[in-house]
Amino acid sequence: MRFNTRAIHAGDQVDALTGAICQPIIQSSTFVQEDIGVTRGYDYSRAGNPTRTALEANLASLEGARFGHAFSSGLAALQGLMHLLKQGDHLVCSAGVYGGTWRFLTKVMAPWGLKTDFVDTADVEAVRAAFTPATRMLLVETPTNPMMRLSDIRALADLCQAHGVLLVVDNTFLSPYFQNPLDLGADVVLHSCTKYLGGHSDLIMGALMHSREDLHEALAFVQKSAGAVPGPFECFLLLRSTKTLGVRMERHFENALRVAHFLDESEAVTRVYYPGLESHPQYELAHRQMRGFGGMLSFELKDYQAARTVATHLQVFSLAESLGGVESLINHPAGMTHASVPKAEREAYGLTDALLRLSVGIEDVEDLVEDLALALAKI
Ligand SMILES: Cc1ncc(COP(=O)(O)O)c(C=O)c1O
Repeated sequence: MRFNTRAIHAGDQVDALTGAICQPIIQSSTFVQEDIGVTRGYDYSRAGNPTRTALEANLASLEGARFGHAFSSGLAALQGLMHLLKQGDHLVCSAGVYGGTWRFLTKVMAPWGLKTDFVDTADVEAVRAAFTPATRMLLVETPTNPMMRLSDIRALADLCQAHGVLLVVDNTFLSPYFQNPLDLGADVVLHSCTKYLGGHSDLIMGALMHSREDLHEALAFVQKSAGAVPGPFECFLLLRSTKTLGVRMERHFENALRVAHFLDESEAVTRVYYPGLESHPQYELAHRQMRGFGGMLSFELKDYQAARTVATHLQVFSLAESLGGVESLINHPAGMTHASVPKAEREAYGLTDALLRLSVGIEDVEDLVEDLALALAKI
């Protein structure tokens, strides 16, 4: 079946008891056993819950995966993956990832005994050079947040396979509608479902999707034993949201492309970072591995003061962290989402104080362009 049909139907069976067309919210922590250890499939909602099962089947289907595992946030999904590693292992990660990912790896996992090297994963040779005999995982964010730098998933998958390294791709920015890393050879896809999958800025959740039996067992054990799982109501909300993912993504993309062209032509803007613009240095790769360019873009102004002026003079865009909701947001990465990354480190990959990031929503695009034009005129 095709994407939108799967998005609407996968995992979401008509309720056998009542005929309800929507998945019931099974808001129960525990389940009655018919005899000691004899269950009807569920014993305790940390280990498994019917609403979560429906959602996980839906999420797996979106990425063309056999298995889906829902976690209580995107970072909890990343933490779940870390339980597959042991002290002394080595991880390679894209330079310029989401600041929370950087903070988790450097401030939580490094003191625990996992060493991470951050490299430009757009450069396959640099990744090869960073691998050591202890390397177990390559974590790639493509496009990166907020510089929109791309990595060639297929080339990295070949490299990882040759070295016995697990390739994990954070596909949050594009959503499964525009990019499917597993089809390009990745082992695991990670999502912050808080973003496009949820789409309405009203829930926090994360997920891992993959097709490997061994990982399924290991990750189901992590969900049950470490416990960072979402509740049934959140699962229901996300299952409702994924049904409209395709139509939302089409509109995010259409609006973002229009906004990107507008900013590109503005005299006040020194640079626009959007893979859908021919000026993007990896435009060819974008066409090869993505089916659309999504709703995220960044742009640079002359200095911090100009960025602050624009960020605080918008009426339709809200100044807020996060992304992927129906409403448009503006973010100052250096002062907000990436504030925990030291200035020298972020500036090394182009994230300056003059950079702004947009999550282009699905409002009428003329209102978005007019809003930006008015704010840019205040500089
Ligand atoms: C690309 C990316 N990955 C992971 C995360 C973490 O997800 P969450 O906020 O759901 O924990 C974020 C959050 O902004 C993100 O942008």
